[in-house]
Order: sequence, then C-alpha cells, then structure tokens
Amino acid sequence: MNDLRPATVNDGEDLRAAGAKAAAIVAGHLAGVADRPVWQPVPAADRAWLSDQELPETGRPLEELLEDARAHVLPHPMGNGHPRFFGWVNSPPNPAGVLVEPLAAALNPSCAGGDHAGPHLERAVVRWLAELVGFPHRPGGGLLTSGASMATVICLAAARQRAALADGWDAREEGLSGRPPMVMYVTEEGHSCLHKAAQLLGLGARHVRTVPVDAAHRMDVSALRAMVAEDLQAGLRPFCVAGSAGTVNSGAVDPLGEIADVAAEHGLWFHVDGAYGALGILADGASPHYAGLERADSLALDPHKWLGVPVGCGCALLRDPAAARAAFSLVPSYLIDDNAGELGWFAEYGPEQTRPFRALKTWATLSHLGRSGIVSLVNHTAGLARTLAAMVEEAADFELLAPVTTSITAFRYRPHDGDGLEALNRAIPGAVQARGNAFLTGTRLGGGETLRACFLHPDTTERDLAVLLDEIRLAAKSLQT
Ligand SMILES: Cc1ncc(COP(=O)(O)O)c(C=O)c1O
Repeated sequence: MNDLRPATVNDGEDLRAAGAKAAAIVAGHLAGVADRPVWQPVPAADRAWLSDQELPETGRPLEELLEDARAHVLPHPMGNGHPRFFGWVNSPPNPAGVLVEPLAAALNPSCAGGDHAGPHLERAVVRWLAELVGFPHRPGGGLLTSGASMATVICLAAARQRAALADGWDAREEGLSGRPPMVMYVTEEGHSCLHKAAQLLGLGARHVRTVPVDAAHRMDVSALRAMVAEDLQAGLRPFCVAGSAGTVNSGAVDPLGEIADVAAEHGLWFHVDGAYGALGILADGASPHYAGLERADSLALDPHKWLGVPVGCGCALLRDPAAARAAFSLVPSYLIDDNAGELGWFAEYGPEQTRPFRALKTWATLSHLGRSGIVSLVNHTAGLARTLAAMVEEAADFELLAPVTTSITAFRYRPHDGDGLEALNRAIPGAVQARGNAFLTGTRLGGGETLRACFLHPDTTERDLAVLLDEIRLAAKSLQT
C-alpha cells in the first residue's frame, strides 16, 4: 500500500465488501420508507451527534462510517421519500438515479467540458428534456444546473446581455450604470428565484414589475401590455417577461401564447419557469394549457422535481445557445481546448467551472422510466391532485382555492365561518407534520392562508388523500383544544 494513503482506505476486497454493505443499506432504506413516519423532529441527542462532532484525528474505516450513517443519518429524512409527503415541490428519488450516483462519484469528472462520458451524455439528456416538453432544441441549447435557481440566473443573464447588445453596448464590459434601467415582468405568483436572479444580475428589485393575476392565478396579459407601454413611456428598458408553467403555490400555468405575443411585439426575452410544471404538458388533455411554451427564448425545467432525479439537477434550455455563451464565455489560456468543437465547453454557458456529473443520474432516471413511464407518472400525480380537489369540494369542512392544472391542490380548512380561520390554516401544516402521518406545507394565495398539497410520488394512492384530509382535521382539533 502507498504510505501516503490513510490506513483505512482499502482497495479490492475491502472496498467491495463496504460497497455491498452500502448497497444493502440503501436498498433497506428505500424499501422501508413507507412504513416509517413521514417526518419527525431530530431528537436533541442525534442533532448534537450530527452537528457538534469533531473531525477525527485519524481516518476511520469505511464500514464504521457506513454504520454511523445508517444509525444517525438515515433515520432523519426530510420526508420526501414517503408517499404521504405533499410539501413544497420535493419528489422521492428515482431508484435508477440513486443507483448510479456512486458510479458518477467513482468517475468523478468535471463536466466543464472535454471528451469524456459526462459532457457527451449531458448533450443527450438535455435534448431528451427539450423533446419531452416540445421545446425547440438546437445542439448546445441547454445545460444541467444545480436547480432552477441557477438555471434562471443563466437564462436571465443571457436575456440581459442580448438586450444590451441589441442596444449597442456590452453589459459584461461596462456594467449597468448610466444605462436606462432594464425592466422585467413577473406575476406575484412567480417563484422567488426569479427575483433573486434579477437582484443578483444587478437589475434592482424595483425594476421587477409585479403583473396582476386573474382569478385562476394566471398572468393578466392586458395588464402586462399596459405596464410595458408605461415603462417605455417613462424611458425605461423593458427586456424580459417571465411566465410560469406551473406556479409553486397552485400549479397555475400562465397564458404562455399571449405572453409570447407581447414579448414578440416589444422584443422582450420570453422566459418560462417550468421548473416544476413544464412536464405537466404530458398529462392527458393538458397540452392546450401550455400552448406558447415552444415560443419561449428560455425554459427552466428541473429534473429533480417531477421526474425524481436525485437532488440536485436543474436544466436551462435555450432557443439560441449563443445567447448564453455571449453572457458567460470566458476561456483563459489554461482552459483552451483546440478539440472542443463548435459548441465549446459547457462551462462557457453558465457560471460554474467545475461541474458535477449530473447527466448520469438524469440519464438513468429518464431511461428507467422511459417516455411512457414519465407520462404515467405525470398522469397519476396530476390525477391525484384533481381527486383531492373533488374530495375537498365535496367535504363540508374544506374549500378549494384554485383550479388544478398540474399536480398541486390549493385549499383551506373551513370547519366554520367564524373568526380564526386564517390563524388556524397558518398553524395546520406544522401540526400535521408533527403528527408524522402526512406532510403538507402552507402558503398565501390571493392574500389568504392556504394549504397546498403537491403530488410527485408514484406510490401515492387515493387512500393517502383521505388520510391527509383526516390528518388535517385531527391536527386542527389538537390546535383548537
Ligand atoms: C416553480 C418553481 N420555480 C423555481 C424553483 C426553484 O428551483 P430550485 O429549488 O431547483 O432552484 C422552484 C422550487 O421549488 C419552483 O417550484
């Protein structure tokens, strides 16, 4: 053995044995998820073990580490592997995606670029994702990211640079000062990552306009048109409108075709946040809601949401790959690759230089499901959201708050018409979570406290929906007594 390596790092048989043990732990964990509480608070002793431990002076054997992980890490999940986890937008991991994670780590490439498996496979999965949702794809027209937040930064940076270049200046070279403020348009239902990206890119929060929504929480496009006209009149530079294909609150899909018309009229970059909901286009009868998606300049779509690719994997899809390259390409002498070909390196299309091998888990997940499996998953989960909505409408003590377009049901508990409903609905998610039988989260929709259940798990059943409503009733009772 090489003297410089810690004594605990073994080759051959020891690694094989530890690997087999790791595989058994993973399989055991996944098989048992549904029989355990959805979530439980981490007890103080385990929290201390996790957060306060000291770095060991000498290395520890692999098997011992696996035992520790089994005993102290796996018992404390966030809950999203469980079929009754309905919180935020967090899916269970697809088993194929889980299984190939060690393979990606074993290769451990940087997918910045180059001629190795990672970048080539990334080209395929990006194309698959575009094809799945009907977004026009050109070679190089997208890249995998940590999630939609980073995808959004990439898309908006491309939009910003395109607008500057169209006006005869270079935002990367000059910065933004002294230029008419660039203005972007999103609805109040637009995800916070759109605002963060705009702030990060120096646009200024005050130049992100909030476009009103209609009763179904979709962008009011006539209001958008009026706001753009007003900003032009005021000498500002409208440059981008961001629509949502599946909002985080209610799953609403904006009128994308009408937004595309306004974008075309005014030369705006049309971005679509389809991080969660773009795949909803695959549900039976859903495609008319998405008409216009294919006209977007950019689309954020997260494989780590509806598809269940293990976290984190987002994707930025770009109609014109050159726009992202113009916003990010910076190739120092030590990274020049004469064999890179026309498209260059992935690192030229975004801010990340060293990039993990995200394509392998995405490829494995997509391949394991196949197109028909993806369509079934989307149909199954969208159907659950509609069924819950019907149950809510039928129940005297619940109220539906939004139409179901994707796989989110937004509703509230209304056991009476008196005071206190806002506070009650605000407190319900935490109380449900603490009971451990279901997990849902809340939000505010149209100014009111709202419960929302997001369906992404292939194993969730209609029986689980009844459990959820009963859990809400029981949690509310515990809060009122
Ligand atoms: C609609 C929507 N957009 C964007 C995001 C941000 O995605 P990420 O957390 O992958 O950065 C989310 C996250 O839930 C989302 O639901």
